[in-house]
Amino acid sequence: MEVLKFLILFLFAATIDWSEAGLPSLRQGSSLKVEEENDFLVSPNGTFSSGFYEVGANASCYSIWFTKSVNKTVVWMANRDKPVSGRGSKLTLQRNGNLVLTDGVGSTVWSTNTFSDAGVEAQLLETGNLVLINQAKEFLWQSFDSPTDTLLPSQKLVRNTTLVSMRSQGTYLSGFNNFKFGDSNVLYLVYNGPQFSSAYWPMPGVNVFDFGRKPYNSSRVAILDGVREFISSDGLVFNASDYGFGPKRRLTLDYDGMLRLYSLDESTGLWEVSWLPDAVGVCLVHGSCGEYSLCTYKL
Ligand SMILES: *[C@@H]1O[C@H](CO)[C@@H](O)[C@H](O)[C@H]1NC(C)=O
Ligand SMILES: *[C@@H]1O[C@H](CO)[C@@H](O)[C@H](O)[C@H]1NC(C)=O
Ligand SMILES: *[C@@H]1O[C@H](CO)[C@@H](O)[C@H](O)[C@H]1NC(C)=O
Ligand SMILES: *[C@@H]1O[C@H](CO)[C@@H](O)[C@H](O)[C@H]1NC(C)=O
Ligand SMILES: *[C@@H]1O[C@H](CO)[C@@H](O)[C@H](O)[C@H]1NC(C)=O
Ligand SMILES: *[C@@H]1O[C@H](CO)[C@@H](O)[C@H](O)[C@H]1NC(C)=O
Repeated sequence: MEVLKFLILFLFAATIDWSEAGLPSLRQGSSLKVEEENDFLVSPNGTFSSGFYEVGANASCYSIWFTKSVNKTVVWMANRDKPVSGRGSKLTLQRNGNLVLTDGVGSTVWSTNTFSDAGVEAQLLETGNLVLINQAKEFLWQSFDSPTDTLLPSQKLVRNTTLVSMRSQGTYLSGFNNFKFGDSNVLYLVYNGPQFSSAYWPMPGVNVFDFGRKPYNSSRVAILDGVREFISSDGLVFNASDYGFGPKRRLTLDYDGMLRLYSLDESTGLWEVSWLPDAVGVCLVHGSCGEYSLCTYKL
């Protein structure tokens, strides 16, 4: 009797544990539902989770977040500008291999536009990359190809990708600050608002060579490696101030227009800034000193 009780308790505990830990993958023909608390994917070591993230009352975005940071820091969203309702919305991996996000009334809000009938699965990798992978281990689609405001270690920023800040603190809508390669092959920060557009880093009016940038390499690729270094084909190179494989990192274009490299303190779940663009005229960031104010810049 005691043994049976123990066994039942054990099985019960094991079930809870499993459901709390999230799902390892999503198979063809299955869905994650917005109202099911345990319907989310988790990466093999649990660093990242992916599921519906509440962005407002009755409003959710399908997202990827750091599991062990305070307030679950979001690193990617499928539908940041078109949240779905908190009832009836779901993410479905259809039998034809298309990953589709539908809202409460069943209309498609977002999809990967992929097609394959051969054993496709959605998996969240330990890098934070959400992938559609087939049995030959080929990626049909990956979230790393369409970043929102954050670049993760091993994720590349390339010629057709742009980091776009959030609109304001706590508002996940696309904002107006962008980080991308320009026509001159140089990575830059630009405010791209409804009224006007202006680049603010590297400092406008100064020759980019003075900042160690090289406009002649047209490969346009940048990457944050696993250790601490960011390397770009335009010559922009920087290190996180803390060294090593230890901390989890993210490079985020924040709502205030600043690009920041963060390291996670896993004991507190809080982020620490481990790099900032040093030559940025903070006051050049649009709006940081008021609509009509004039800023001066000192190197
Ligand atoms: C996952 O955890 C295992 C065991 O702790 C560790 O050996 C491995 O390096 C981890 N993998 C990643 C990608 O962090
Ligand atoms: C977490 O969220 C709460 C509620 O929105 C907020 O008050 C708090 O400052 C946040 N903490 C951090 C570290 O962002
Ligand atoms: C959430 O929004 C949907 C669609 O707008 C609506 O049908 C539903 O009643 C709302 N639910 C709640 C709890 O407000
Ligand atoms: C960028 O181009 C690659 C390769 O052509 C493609 O797979 C990816 O979806 C594109 N990303 C965006 C955001 O357009
Ligand atoms: C251009 O950048 C790429 C990527 O960083 C690098 O591999 C390549 O060597 C660079 N080419 C030149 C001519 O510097
Ligand atoms: C980054 O750190 C490595 C290892 O300490 C060093 O070799 C490299 O020069 C550093 N790069 C920069 C830009 O400081």
